[in-house]
Amino acid sequence: MNQAALHRLLTSKEGIKGTHPTEDLFNIRLATNLSLIKTLFFSLYPESLKNKIHFHNLLDSMEQLFELRPDELKTLDLKRIEQGNWYQNERLVGMQLYVDRFNKDLNGLVNKLSYLNNLGINFLHIMPITTRPSGESDGGYAVNNYHEIDPKFGTKADFLALTALARSKNILLMLDFVVNHTSDEFSWAKKAKAGDEKYQNYYYTYPDRTIPDEFEKTLPEIFPESAPGSFTHVPEMDKWVMTCFNSYQWDLNYSNPEVFIEMLGNLVKMANMGIDVVRFDALAFLWKKLGTISQNLPEAHQLISLFRLCLQVIAPGVILLAEAIVAPRNIIKYFGEGILEGNECEVAYNASLMALLWNSIATKQTSLLYKSLMEIPAKPNDATWINYIRCHDDIGLGYDDDFIRDMGWNPNAHRKFLLDYYCQGLEWSPAKGLIFMYNPKNGDGRITGSAASLLGLEKALEEKDKVAINLSIAKILMLHGIILSYGGIPVIYMGDEIGTLNDYSFRTNEEHKNDSRWVNRPVQDWKIVDKLKSKKNHSYKIYSGLKKLIQLRKGLPLLADNNNLVLHPSSNSHVFVFERTRESGGLWVVSNFDEETQFLEVAWLFSIGISFGRNPKDLITKKDLVLNEGRLKLSPYQHLWITID
Ligand code: GLC
Repeated sequence: MNQAALHRLLTSKEGIKGTHPTEDLFNIRLATNLSLIKTLFFSLYPESLKNKIHFHNLLDSMEQLFELRPDELKTLDLKRIEQGNWYQNERLVGMQLYVDRFNKDLNGLVNKLSYLNNLGINFLHIMPITTRPSGESDGGYAVNNYHEIDPKFGTKADFLALTALARSKNILLMLDFVVNHTSDEFSWAKKAKAGDEKYQNYYYTYPDRTIPDEFEKTLPEIFPESAPGSFTHVPEMDKWVMTCFNSYQWDLNYSNPEVFIEMLGNLVKMANMGIDVVRFDALAFLWKKLGTISQNLPEAHQLISLFRLCLQVIAPGVILLAEAIVAPRNIIKYFGEGILEGNECEVAYNASLMALLWNSIATKQTSLLYKSLMEIPAKPNDATWINYIRCHDDIGLGYDDDFIRDMGWNPNAHRKFLLDYYCQGLEWSPAKGLIFMYNPKNGDGRITGSAASLLGLEKALEEKDKVAINLSIAKILMLHGIILSYGGIPVIYMGDEIGTLNDYSFRTNEEHKNDSRWVNRPVQDWKIVDKLKSKKNHSYKIYSGLKKLIQLRKGLPLLADNNNLVLHPSSNSHVFVFERTRESGGLWVVSNFDEETQFLEVAWLFSIGISFGRNPKDLITKKDLVLNEGRLKLSPYQHLWITID
């Protein structure tokens, strides 16, 4: 039972339920969490007189932050405690979008809520909208302020109006909390530059290269092409500051408890604007230690849990998403382990599934997909995934080398094949992507490009190849069908619902030209949307196919994430089959990753529960399954949602 469940139990007890105003419930929540909060705090910040004072400051600050939480949100918090794991619901379907690129600004987004509603979207990941440096800002992930809305998106009043409207329409909102770093224009950075030591200690600053050199022996480079190294010299203070990402993104020093306390304040004030889910950006990097890669360290987990538990007391209706794009075994740890199980992040990106799906598309094989997914330890019952195929970032090739070897492939050669396949290194490949951050020192590189272009649509349209266009549409729908049924919250990337292609205009944009991820951050083409009704083209087929899948999902309670997922390693190495189980007959999701027709034997289908005596049918086409000489025939990239009577 995680802490949230404990609250539910306590507040449902006779004598507590209904009789206490929200303020008393704060005290109950504090009492429930205090001992864990204290343990975590003093394990990060060893007990000393100074740290005891900081701990008292933390408790005072929590009370003040609770005071600041609007009453409407306090009431929502209570409702959510009663509801339990509301984020595991099958009715949730998300979209990730850039406000300005979607429809100009916040008011423009409001004007398009009916479009989103029509598609079935009720959860929005709104990309950063707060103030950032002019010029390069890593798409707003260099934060000047956590609560001031950048005027290019609108005003704070506009944003509050949007959050209120979303609440009234049951649309959930997610915003990033860029927790690992601030921009070099953030008020603390400015004070540090001006020589204020207190604020220099909010970051990792060093007078010379001695410690930076030590760190760089083990710190991996995140943006080796555009921002090599992990430290930047700041002439104003004549010091080196740690900058793991870009030179203008200064890593916060969480070994300083004041940083934690202030950042908790920033987090709550952001949540208080009406945010339901907070995306903890780059959270694997939160703790730095010499001699390590400074990712996924145990202290980082303790720190995130500390954020989580304080939030549990102040704003329990708000949940955290782990943006940990790390090895599968490490991702799962962000749900919390041991005593902290279920008390870290409620949601994590299923980056493993995402990257493996792209591997299966390129290889037309599902063996690595099965092997890797089956090795991932079970997640806690209270946790769930965000399932996605594309987002604004690159696709990393973080597969387990041993598993690649088990497939009989050489890990380096295999990664090179994937880069070639997706990034125009192979004449025959249908994909048109770009390489992101190629590192000639070790041959590492990542992939970027829009889903449609990576899945062959761009090339097929250029070549006016109808067969290839249809194959690409089938792939797009198949991958989306998987994320819509896999277990977790599916999040569609803006534009993918209409098959948006790569946008090469970043190459001539001063702010974007060094970052090829911008090829997949296009401006939404509303002309295409306007024509959806009249033109039955590829965009229409993708949009209507997706809409149908979304509607289907919402009508199937077994798709709520009740940890009811079973993988069925298929007898056919091109096919991926999983089942969402329930007591009486589940849902089997079948996907053919090959561009050739494939077959599944009836005996094998029977062995996983699909009995032809029980009239299996595909919910997507509403057609009965028919056998072809004792086998189920799957056309290229066919995707089925099978149920039985
Ligand atoms: C996350 C964001 C990415 C950004 C990085 C640094 O990974 O998704 O876009 O560059 O954090 O903030």
